[in-house]
Order: sequence, then C-alpha cells, then structure tokens
Amino acid sequence: MPVTYDLESQKRVYAGWAKIYDRVYQGMLERPQRESVAAACACGRDILEIGVGTGLTLQYFTPESRVIAVDLSLDMLRMAARKVESQKLDHVLGLMVMDACRLGFAAESFDAVTAQFVITLVPDPEQALAEMDRVLKPGGEIVIASRLVDDRDFAAPLWRAVAPLAKAVGWSADFKVSRLTDWAAATGRYETVHVGRGYFRVVRLRKLVSAAAQTTNGSEPLALEA
Ligand SMILES: C[S@@+](CC[C@H](N)C(=O)[O-])C[C@H]1O[C@@H](n2cnc3c(N)ncnc32)[C@H](O)[C@@H]1O
Repeated sequence: MPVTYDLESQKRVYAGWAKIYDRVYQGMLERPQRESVAAACACGRDILEIGVGTGLTLQYFTPESRVIAVDLSLDMLRMAARKVESQKLDHVLGLMVMDACRLGFAAESFDAVTAQFVITLVPDPEQALAEMDRVLKPGGEIVIASRLVDDRDFAAPLWRAVAPLAKAVGWSADFKVSRLTDWAAATGRYETVHVGRGYFRVVRLRKLVSAAAQTTNGSEPLALEA
C-alpha cells in the first residue's frame, strides 16, 4: 500500500526530540509504560513494540521475552540501540525502522503488540490497528497506552481544561477511548478487556482465539544500522 501521508515531518520532529526525550518524559510515562509491558508479557514471549522511540520501555520486559521494536525515526532508534547495548537487554532481538501502518511481518507472528504514546500521532490509526491485528496471534492482545479521552470520566471537565497545555506538548486533546473500542467491536474478532483510568490510559484489546488469519500486505523491514 503506498504511503499517502507525510511521514517525513514526523521524522524531523523526532530527530529533534531524540536527545532530550528521556529527560522530559521518563518519569512522567513510567506508570503506563510498566503497566503496558506487564500486560504484553503476560500474553507470551513474542512481543512487537511499535513506536518504541528511545527505548524507555525496553528495560521493563521480562528476560524471557523476545521483543522486536520498530519506529519511524532512526534518530530515536539510535538512542534505543544504545540502551540495548549499555543495559545488556538481551531480550530485545531487533530494532527496525518501520511505519506502524506498514508492518513488515508475517500474519500471526506475535503473542502481543504494544504501542505506547504513538497511536494519536499516526495519521490513520485504524490502518495501524489493522496491521497490529494482522501480525497478532489469536488469543493475543493489542496493548495501547496514550493520552486518551473518555467523556464518561468524572474528571473529563478537568482534562478539557488542561487540553491547551496538552496540545502545546504535542498530545491530542480529543482522541477518544471509543475510537479504539469501536474499532475492536467492529472487527467482531476482539473484546476490550481493560480500559484504564487517569490522564494516561492503558487499553487492552484481546483477539478472540477463534479469529481467522488476516492476510493484508506488509512492507519489508529495514535493519537498523548501529
Ligand atoms: C511520544 S514518542 C513515544 C515513544 C515510546 N513509545 C515511549 O513510550 O516513550 C512517539 C514515537 O512514535 C514514533 N512514530 C510516530 N509515527 C509513527 C509511525 N507512523 N510509525 C512508527 N512510529 C511512529 C515517533 O518516531 C516516536 O519515536
């Protein structure tokens, strides 16, 4: 499928963020990142992390896991590669440049697919979800962490009030939880097993064991050059 949106501007933005990202976000994102990784690890050993960025999450996986991590930005991946080496994260089997909407993996390759703080940045989130679905084994989970809005949340007025601040740091102020859960329901092959609370939420969508294999096309992976 041809790329019809501007990936280059995303790459430019994250080339700028790569060196300072950890200092700004490490503490802020740790709770939802740990929660997402724990949920992914509970599904099995073979895990795909999409939009891994500088690799802040990689230290949270169990040593038994086998993690492949992808990102659009080579600059961010270089920071992740340094962590893999310096922290001896042997469970990380590969870091690859790849677009969330064109995953270069065979159908049903992973026990879990996790995407943290990336779904709201992707111009076509449903296409990214379709790709996650394609590469996920039946019985596995799509685990998403992000700034997600739920209008039934008692704190929704507060979140709306701070929306301009969130926008200033690049978070979508209006990406609704229901966009994920509606996608899951529409497939007829997923159940929503968890919707977290708070400003940053973790959402878990489980692929039914009875779900049939999907065979849409993906792109070839590009190996990261250290
Ligand atoms: C806010 S950072 C989150 C990084 C990491 N997941 C974390 O929790 O710290 C967003 C990351 O998504 C990546 N990204 C943006 N659009 C993408 C796409 N279409 N496919 C893959 N990665 C993408 C960016 O390059 C960036 O590294």
